[in-house]
Amino acid sequence: MNQQFDVLIDSFIANKVGIDKNFLSRELSKGLQQNIRQLQEDNGMKTAGIGNDRVKDANQQMRSDKICWLDKNNNNVFEQEFLELAEAFIGHLNSTCFTSINSYEFHYAVYEEGNFYKRHIDQFRSDNQRKFSLINYLNEDWLEEDGGQLYLYQDETVQKIQPESKTAVFFKSDEMEHEVALCNRSRMSITGWLKQV
Ligand code: OGA
Ligand code: MN
Repeated sequence: MNQQFDVLIDSFIANKVGIDKNFLSRELSKGLQQNIRQLQEDNGMKTAGIGNDRVKDANQQMRSDKICWLDKNNNNVFEQEFLELAEAFIGHLNSTCFTSINSYEFHYAVYEEGNFYKRHIDQFRSDNQRKFSLINYLNEDWLEEDGGQLYLYQDETVQKIQPESKTAVFFKSDEMEHEVALCNRSRMSITGWLKQV
């Protein structure tokens, strides 16, 4: 397990972007995908963003995905397994990199055809609790023409990552600019943040 976590951590240290193409098992990825389908049926996926209508409108020009937060109290086996994996990763990160992460939050996200998330960073000006971003993709057989790539901006270069199932991406929330390209197909993921509160 720890050795597996080092794939993500070592690539993060080398490139500021950690990538592990086998972070989730096929089975866990499928189970989480199934949870999202159920949430969609139950109307549990909600437009991302908080605040009054004006703030919401501004928000929706930035992003058009729908989200739902994970919660251990949901007592869903796959959700539990995912959060336990995240906790184990945090434990390993804290003990090897002295990161002092003491909290986290994760949400499911669905981008339908035509959805996007424009270039941004994950730390708000008013709140610096989010230290690291960890994204897990849940989509099988993703093709170039499906769009929806994660674009990561560093210096003058753009790194493009396919949102293929089992793949995890890890970077610092306060400095890595990124974007979700326009999707031509429904795109599922779990995105979360490791925090100091
Ligand atoms: C986010 C985000 C990227 C992705 O939710 O903040 O940037 O690839 N997601 O889903
Ligand atoms: Mn982001």
